[in-house]
Amino acid sequence: MIPIARPQMGEEEKQRVWEAMASGSLAQGPRVRELEEQFAAFVGADHAVATSSGTTALHLALLGHGIGPGDEVITVPFTFIASANSILYTGARPVFVDIGERDFCIDPSLIEAALTERTRAIMPVSLYGQPADMDAIAAIAERHGLAVVEDACQAHGAAIGDRRSGTWGAGTFSFYPTKNMTTGEGGMLTTDDGELAERVRLLREHGMKVRYHHDVIGYNFRMTDIAAAIGLAQLPKLPANNDRRREIAARYDGELRGVLTPHVRPNVTHVYHQYTLRVNQRDAFAEALTNRGVGSAIYYPLPVHRQKPFLALGYGADAMPVTDRLTAQVLSIPVHPSLTDEEVNAVIEAVNAIAAELGSQEMEAAAS
Ligand SMILES: Cc1ncc(COP(=O)(O)O)c(C=O)c1O
Repeated sequence: MIPIARPQMGEEEKQRVWEAMASGSLAQGPRVRELEEQFAAFVGADHAVATSSGTTALHLALLGHGIGPGDEVITVPFTFIASANSILYTGARPVFVDIGERDFCIDPSLIEAALTERTRAIMPVSLYGQPADMDAIAAIAERHGLAVVEDACQAHGAAIGDRRSGTWGAGTFSFYPTKNMTTGEGGMLTTDDGELAERVRLLREHGMKVRYHHDVIGYNFRMTDIAAAIGLAQLPKLPANNDRRREIAARYDGELRGVLTPHVRPNVTHVYHQYTLRVNQRDAFAEALTNRGVGSAIYYPLPVHRQKPFLALGYGADAMPVTDRLTAQVLSIPVHPSLTDEEVNAVIEAVNAIAAELGSQEMEAAAS
């Protein structure tokens, strides 16, 4: 089976983890600081704060902006549940805005209609490795005095022009094993706002600047030095791995037939955390891929506004039509950098054969 993801751990990771273990510095220490510096430089942000996960980075970004009960935060329902959960953790209310049909990201033209006097922030999600339309979103935020928290958990190295994800307002990243780079579990917040970074550092460490003196109620959302050691081995490999993802995506773009391939907005560097097709008869398609030895996955089979903890928000059956339509069609196929050319050939062959069998050609017509 060609897996949908294949985390790569090599000698560098082993060596660095062993060094961290031998040093005795196991919890947050010098390696975390080094990874923060290197990641900030990579993204092009002034500050980076490492966290225990992407989820805790999102949570801290919102808390760092002082968001809490009575506030509203705009986000999308077409995402991993952590985006919206992080809003709930603060006591604020997630307000969902539908996505664009072609880029799977928040539709900026729908944002202003969702604003109220309680809106405090916009959290776009740069899904599958394509940045949301950050310039348009930042302009809306600026007009209305709102914070921007980009959920860039799937977008390490993605860019619009030469500006990378994580440099509009605050950006948050996940280092979960299937991501474009990993630390096992881990996350990072990036920002040019020094005061925000400072507040987030404080909240990450039980509100403590001076040992055992606590200024505010904080959390233990720290990254360990063992995790950072893995990250320090992974980060230098990220650019080449992203290039390999793009190379595989280019082959899929050119050679797949009878399915809708991902649309990349002009001037955007997509890092293909996922290569996500739109297909008819999606579940049959996925099963046929499995039968031909090709792994696939649905991200995500149930949109957030339809998840049990979010039903109380009261979104009606037709509230998010684009999200609902795409939820029924999306299917991600392997695009990870360790795929061999033979495996890429096998994926292309399988997708094209199944599309022909299932008569999915209407998909192409539907998109044009
Ligand atoms: C879009 C998105 N947001 C948030 C997260 C949460 O990250 P983590 O799993 O590191 O907590 C993830 C990753 O799983 C994600 O894909």
